Amino acid sequence: MGYRDIQAGWQQDPEAFWMKAAEAIDWDSPPSRAFFDQGPAGEWFADGMVNTCWNAIDRHVQAGHGDRLAVIHDSPMTDSVSRLTYSELQDRVARLAGVLAARGIGKGDRVIIYMPMIPEALQAMLACARIGAIHSVVFGGFAAHELAVRIDDARPRAIIAASCGLEPGRTVAYKPLMDRAIAEATHKPDVTIVFQRPECRADMTEGRDLDWKDAVAAADPVDCVPVEGNHPAYILYTSGTTGQPKGVVRHSAGHLVALAWSVPHIYGIGPGDVFWVASDVGWVVGHSYIVYGPLIAGATTVIFEGKPVGTPDAGTFWRVIADHKVKSFFTAPTAIRAVKREDPQGKLVAQHDLSSLQALFLAGERADPDTITWCEDRLNVPVIDHWWQTETGWAIAANPFGIELLPVKKGSPTLPMPGYDVQVLDEAGHPVAPRTLGAIAIRLPLPPGTLPTLWNAEDRFRKAYLDHFPGYYETGDAGYVDEDGYVYIMARTDDVINVAGHRLSTGGMEEVLASHPAVAECAVIGVADPLKGQAPVGLLCLKKGAEADPSQVVAEVVAMVRDQIGPVAAFKTACVVDRLPKTRSGKILRATMARIADGEDFKMPATIDDPAILDEIRASLATVGYPRG
Ligand code: COA
Ligand code: AMP
Repeated sequence: MGYRDIQAGWQQDPEAFWMKAAEAIDWDSPPSRAFFDQGPAGEWFADGMVNTCWNAIDRHVQAGHGDRLAVIHDSPMTDSVSRLTYSELQDRVARLAGVLAARGIGKGDRVIIYMPMIPEALQAMLACARIGAIHSVVFGGFAAHELAVRIDDARPRAIIAASCGLEPGRTVAYKPLMDRAIAEATHKPDVTIVFQRPECRADMTEGRDLDWKDAVAAADPVDCVPVEGNHPAYILYTSGTTGQPKGVVRHSAGHLVALAWSVPHIYGIGPGDVFWVASDVGWVVGHSYIVYGPLIAGATTVIFEGKPVGTPDAGTFWRVIADHKVKSFFTAPTAIRAVKREDPQGKLVAQHDLSSLQALFLAGERADPDTITWCEDRLNVPVIDHWWQTETGWAIAANPFGIELLPVKKGSPTLPMPGYDVQVLDEAGHPVAPRTLGAIAIRLPLPPGTLPTLWNAEDRFRKAYLDHFPGYYETGDAGYVDEDGYVYIMARTDDVINVAGHRLSTGGMEEVLASHPAVAECAVIGVADPLKGQAPVGLLCLKKGAEADPSQVVAEVVAMVRDQIGPVAAFKTACVVDRLPKTRSGKILRATMARIADGEDFKMPATIDDPAILDEIRASLATVGYPRG
C-alpha cells in the first residue's frame, strides 16, 4: 500500500486504523476501543493495560532476541564506544527500577532525570516506565534555576543525575547544579541517585544521595507494572510565551502505538536495523527516537555524545554512520550547516563508507533548501525534512520513507501523516485557499501519542492550544499548504524562537533581563543567524537616573541569562536603547524590530505610537552588528 491508500484508510475509519496499529503492541489487557472522548482533547486506548518498558525491552528478550544489540554508545568526548544487548539492558533497567521501588517509588510518582548523553540516561527513563513512575527529563544545557522551576512543577519523589556532562573544552558539573536547584525549589525530593563519571566525581550528600553503581549492584530486579493506557509515561517541559515552561504530558498507550507506527513507516526502521538520532535525550526528538521508538521496534539505537564539529572534526557524523552501519540518520539542519561551514566540499564525507545509509531525516527547524541540496549531493540518499513539536511527539508532516518516497519539494516537510488533519486558518478561524499564509491548526482529535493536556495546567492547555480556534489544536506555527497538499512552515505565531534547533522563549529571557536593577523595560527578539537559524538579541531601556554603565549592564544581563536559563539560550548580544517602539495600546513591536535587525523591508505598523523610534532602534542595532554583513 502506498501513502495515499494508507491516508485514505485512516480518513475513512480512524478507529479501525488505530486499532490495527495497536496490534504492534503487547497489551496486558487490550483496549476496548481506540478513541475515548474524554479529557480536554480526547484520549487514546484509555482502558487498555500496558507497560512501555515491556514493549521496549522485555518482549524482545522473551521472543529470543536478547543477544541483539539494543544500544551503542559512541562518545568522541571520552573517546569510547560501548554496547548493550537487549538482555543486558533488561538486567540494568530492572535493577535500577528495583532501586526506585525499594524506596517506595512507584506508579504515578514523578522522577526527574538530569543526565548527559550516556546509556544510563536511557536506562533511567526505562526504569521509570517499568514501574509506572512518570519521568521528566531536563536537558543538561539548562541552568539550576530552570531545573528548580521543573522540580516545583513536577514535584518529583526522586532525581536521577550524572556527576557531569562533557562539552567541548569544559566539564559541566551537573551535581552542583542539581544541589543548587534543590536548594532553590520549594519541593524537595526524597532521594537522589547520582551516576558518578570518572571525568568528574561528585561530592555526595550524606543521607540523601545514592551512588548509582552501588545501589544498582545491591538491588533486586523488578518486573514491569501494567498501567492504564492513559497513564502518563512522561512529562516534558517546553518553552511557551512566559518563563514558566509548559509540562507536556504523554500518555503511555498512544505513545507506544504512535512510535510503533512511525518508526517503520516514516523512518524505514525495523528489527535489527541501526537508527541514529543525533539529538539529546532532553528533547522530544530524543524521547521518541533515541530512546523509545527504536527499542519498541526492536532496532539498535545509537547514543552519541559529541558535536557535529570539533569532536574531533566535521567528519564525525560520517564516521559514526560508517562504524555502526547506520541505516537511518536524523539530525537538525543547524548541525548540517555547522558541518558544511567546516567542510564545504564535503571532503570528509568521501573518506567513509556510507553504504549502509538509506535516508537522512531533518527536523527541529525549517530545513533550508541549500542545506538539503548539500546533503543530497554528497550522501546520495533521500534527505527528508519533517515537521513536528514537543506537543505532538511524532511527525505531523513528513515524507513517509518507510512506505514510499513521495516527490520532494524543497522547503516543505511534505504531507500530513495519518491522524493529522492539517488546516491553514485565517484570524477568524476560516480555512484559507492554497498558498495563502495563515495559522496552522490541526482538526481535533489529534492522533495517538500527542499531548492530552499539560501537567497540572488544564486551563493553560485550553488557553494555549484549544481556545483560539474552537475544534482545532493551534500549532503556534504559521505557513501555508500548496495545491498538492504539501505543507510549508514559515514562522512562529508566538514569542518562541528556534536557536540551533532548540526552542526558546523570548518572554522567559525578558523576565531575566527585567530583573536587572538598572533595566526599566526590555524586549528580546529572534534575529536570523546563518548557523543557528535564529539568535536572541536583547534591547534594554535603562532606568532614568540609574547612572549605570550601559556596557556593564549588557555584560551583566548576558551573564544572568546564562546563569538562570542556561548556556543553551545562547544569549550573547544586547544593546541599550532610549525607548522601545510600541503600538498605541502599548504592545512592543518585536516583529518589526526583528525585521530591522535582519535588514528586511517592513510595513510601518498602522498602530505605531511614534515611527521615529524605529530609526533609533536601527542605529542601536547597528552598534551590535545588525543587520549582518
Ligand atoms: N549540557 C551543558 N551545556 C550544553 C549542553 C548540554 N547538554 N548542550 C549545549 N550546551 C551548551 C554549549 O556548550 C554551548 O555553550 P557555550 O555558550 O559555552 O559555547 C551552549 O550550550 C549553546 O549550545 P548550542 O546551541 O548547541 O551551540 P554550540 O555552539 O555548542 O553548537 C551546533 C552549535 C550547531 C553544532 C549545535 O547546536 C548542534 O549540534 N545542534 C544540534 C541541534 C539539535 O540536536 N537539536 C535538537 C532538536 S533535533
Ligand atoms: P520543539 O517543540 O522543540 O520540537 O519545537 C517545535 C517547533 O520547531 C515547531 O513548532 C516549529 O516551529 C519548529 N520546527 C520543527 N521542525 C520543523 C520543520 N521541519 N520545519 C519548520 N519548523 C520546524
